[in-house]
Amino acid sequence: MQQILDQYNTVTENQVKTWFKVGSVSDFPENGGACIKYKTRQIAVYNFTRKNKWYACQNLCPHKMEMVLSRGMIGDLNSVPKVACPMHKKTFSLEDGSNLNGEDYKIAVYPVKIEKENVYIGFSD
Ligand code: FES
Repeated sequence: MQQILDQYNTVTENQVKTWFKVGSVSDFPENGGACIKYKTRQIAVYNFTRKNKWYACQNLCPHKMEMVLSRGMIGDLNSVPKVACPMHKKTFSLEDGSNLNGEDYKIAVYPVKIEKENVYIGFSD
């Protein structure tokens, strides 16, 4: 279990070594998520058009280790963009990956950039 979780670490823009192209803007649903694969990792990508922003995080929900966050509901809590896991509704900030229910779980988040209608996610490896 821990081994799987260890693959996922938050990446800030300064730490990006690889901008990995994951598709074009039109490949992603508006105000919803999709899942892509980078190496062995599953990454959830959200086109949050209501906020005019993109977010990416691990697809793995740390609660029961389910690969489901791309199917979660996005929204905001006091203007913090968030995703709620579809299984038991634990909620995570898409900005820093913290758990918004005050629990210990947290998720890795990744920077996203759009260039010429293409979507890139930043990784540190
Ligand atoms: S598996 Fe995500 S909240 Fe339980």
